[in-house]
Amino acid sequence: MKFLVIGSGAREHIIAKKLKECGASVYSIITNKNPGLISLSEKTYFVNNYLTSKGEVIDFSSANDIECVVIGPEDPLAQGYADEFKNKGIPVVGPTKSLARIETSKGFTRDLLHQYEIHASPKYKRFKDLIGVEDYIDFLSNQYVIKFDGLMGGKGVKVSGEHLENLDDALGYCKEIVSNKGTFVIEEKLIGEEFSLMSFCDGKNLAHMPAIQDHKRAYEGDVGPNTGGMGCYSDSNHSLPFLKDAEIEEAREINERVSSALFQSTGENYRGILYGGFMVTGSGVKLIEYNARFGDPEAMNLLTLLDDDLASICYSMADGKIDQIKFRKQASVCKYVVPEGYGSNPVKDATLVVDESYSNYSDLYYAAVNLGKDGNITTTSSRAAAVVSAGDSINEAEEKCEMGLSFVKGNKLFIRHDIAKADLIKKRVDNMEIIR
Ligand code: AMP
Ligand code: GLY
Repeated sequence: MKFLVIGSGAREHIIAKKLKECGASVYSIITNKNPGLISLSEKTYFVNNYLTSKGEVIDFSSANDIECVVIGPEDPLAQGYADEFKNKGIPVVGPTKSLARIETSKGFTRDLLHQYEIHASPKYKRFKDLIGVEDYIDFLSNQYVIKFDGLMGGKGVKVSGEHLENLDDALGYCKEIVSNKGTFVIEEKLIGEEFSLMSFCDGKNLAHMPAIQDHKRAYEGDVGPNTGGMGCYSDSNHSLPFLKDAEIEEAREINERVSSALFQSTGENYRGILYGGFMVTGSGVKLIEYNARFGDPEAMNLLTLLDDDLASICYSMADGKIDQIKFRKQASVCKYVVPEGYGSNPVKDATLVVDESYSNYSDLYYAAVNLGKDGNITTTSSRAAAVVSAGDSINEAEEKCEMGLSFVKGNKLFIRHDIAKADLIKKRVDNMEIIR
């Protein structure tokens, strides 16, 4: 079967690898010269951006008789690539533009939950100008989060006390959004621990994946700017050390109710990955955000543990027949190698040198890097490579991941080594004990 994978990060690299392992042939649409995707693909087609390339991508798919399409990143979903493939009768994993609003508009998502009485949101209000902003911040007792209402690669969210120190900072950020013709949401700042629960969806049925925790902040100790995600871990029991079973069940139920609310409000089936980003708080599980796609880095952890055939799963999602899906009962740890300054002011064009001996401990997936004609790999302003290991415990997987990382060299690179280490996990468990 011929698959088209759209996207050229580590998430798409592992998707392509898993599809190939199932005997599928892979064609790729890439925006950077990802060496992993280039070597796995029958053909790659380079586009400068997703905004202007929809027609070319559809033509490439027709010319190569593509039978199923997997859309990795949010940008092509926001541009309605899934709609085009659907209209042509080609099965596609990834929701239509209207359904992808679950990710592309934070205001849409909050309103959807409100309308369908899914009580998982913090207090929130949508704004298109500065009228009422000060009063609302006051109403939230200065514990607030300001979210640009659109796609910004995870970097459009500013949290009071962390990224916004005072009212002037807050008003400044709101003004910046308005002057760029944007809208925004202000919501209550939640206190707790974050986790993600992704589900394979066919529009009616959901198959849930193991719970997983990403690390959005750029620097060790969970400080610094928000990023696309610095690394993730999952546990062998498919829960997380700080979570109770009932909390995972709550998150599953929220995903199920949201999938059904999406159908009721749009009349369309959501076919793809529904990614709930949650926070477990003193008053239960709350929704932070939805993504309309596989998480990155989450995909590296969970596809490593997947014990079923990804090609069949993709086809079932697109075709409306998803069933239970098996994951190995192991823990997983993934850490990203990123350019120094990633999240604020990244250095570009550093060289990445990978010694293949990493494979004794880990797998490695290339992200936003470019393979040059000379065979060298250079970084861009985004994440460079993800190293992932599985093990019988988080500790074992973490040690293997660090061993794998020791074979990735280069100048001006940064890794959050604290991810999945016992100290950070203990901090989260202790924190939840205080909060509950
Ligand atoms: P998002 O892009 O909506 O996932 O937000 C990025 C990060 O900002 C999240 O991973 C959280 O760490 C933080 N965040 C977003 N919304 C809230 C909230 N209501 N309360 C506390 N932190 C939040
Ligand atoms: N890891 C978070 C995301 O994929 O947006």
